[in-house]
Amino acid sequence: MKLENKNILLGVTGGIAAYKSPGICSLLRKNNANIKVVMTKAATEFVTPLTFETMSSNLVYTEMFTKNRHTAEVEHIELAKWADIIVIAPASANTIAKISNGIADNLLTSIMLASRSPVIIVPSMNTYMLNNEATRKNLEILRNRGYIILGTAHDLLACMDIGDGKMLEPSEIVDEIDTALYKKDLEGKKVVVTAGPTVEPLDPVRYITNRSSGKTGYEIAKEAKKRGADVTLISGPTSIKPPKVDKMIKIKTTEELKNVVLENFDNCDILIQPAAPADFKPLDYSEEKIKKSKDENLKIEFTKNPDVAKLVGEKKTHQFTVGFAAESQNEIENATKKLESKNLDMIVLNNIKSETTGFASDDNIVTIISKDGKVENLPIMKKSEIAEKLIDKIIERI
Ligand SMILES: Cc1cc2nc3c(=O)[nH]c(=O)nc-3n(C[C@H](O)[C@H](O)[C@H](O)COP(=O)(O)O)c2cc1C
Repeated sequence: MKLENKNILLGVTGGIAAYKSPGICSLLRKNNANIKVVMTKAATEFVTPLTFETMSSNLVYTEMFTKNRHTAEVEHIELAKWADIIVIAPASANTIAKISNGIADNLLTSIMLASRSPVIIVPSMNTYMLNNEATRKNLEILRNRGYIILGTAHDLLACMDIGDGKMLEPSEIVDEIDTALYKKDLEGKKVVVTAGPTVEPLDPVRYITNRSSGKTGYEIAKEAKKRGADVTLISGPTSIKPPKVDKMIKIKTTEELKNVVLENFDNCDILIQPAAPADFKPLDYSEEKIKKSKDENLKIEFTKNPDVAKLVGEKKTHQFTVGFAAESQNEIENATKKLESKNLDMIVLNNIKSETTGFASDDNIVTIISKDGKVENLPIMKKSEIAEKLIDKIIERI
């Protein structure tokens, strides 16, 4: 996350979705951003400034011409200079029209004309207002000006029409703000990330799998995307929401993972492999459901799956490859052996003995070992923070 200590100016206009915007303030504040809110007059009909003052821990700006001025500053210029980024959420059709035409008839639109910061517009309106040629053209003008124009959700709207125009959720908006603040240091790079477990079927209803949740891989894919990379995410079955990437490929078995990774390997610059492919699969797949028998025990014979990381290591030309190791004894020594035998550039060693971290948890404790022998122990961190650190280390080395 890049929100810490950033100055974020939140513009709120007169749309029904204004009731959700205090949620944006709340999330930004949790991430230690500085927030100043500017409301249009129409916005104050929907939510009171007091709500935003409380949620942003700052006085709210609603007037261009205040009667009892306490400062000699020209507010619209100072606020424009203060902001590292401006976000208008919700952005009404009216304000979008004014900004696209350079009209500056209130504090928010005047700031927009004076600003040189990145801008995110979060439209929210009835479907017909959104699809109206005027609005579409106005949004196009703003897009061409370099503003980031977010999409809308398709849902039942406040006016009871069903269609496009619903404002994105505060968490999605905050994620976009965070993305916009990132340095695009992986721009032009193709990154392939594997994630999650594989499942190896026994019969039509049963399978063998492992406890990988896919969280680490999804966080790495998200981080690489925020840094501007072209990201392909190859994922085994998980129950978590996939991040926004350029290409998402779902696989089930280790054999499928191998095929998809090899297909995408030649053209990639960086391959990061936190997926936990099953090392073994049942030797015989039963076409019919295995019946309960009189025997107390059921014997299943397993056979080795392909070693994806090893195959990739053999094919490697220019790619930077990162593997993961889950070791329970002689951790550093075993992880280093794996790094060498699989021709990796870096390996991330997971602490699988800890009960509070690891597979399904949001936190983890890892050690990053590089080909040059450097060993870095990271303290307990969120998986999103580990993803950030790991991408930093990869960038240092490429
Ligand atoms: C109940 C109600 C809900 C409204 N919701 C929206 C909306 O979601 N989006 C929008 O563009 N306009 C909406 N409007 C119309 C705007 O409030 C109106 O165009 C206003 O002039 C916008 O002013 P502003 O852009 O200065 O905030 C709504 C109006 C009312 C009365």
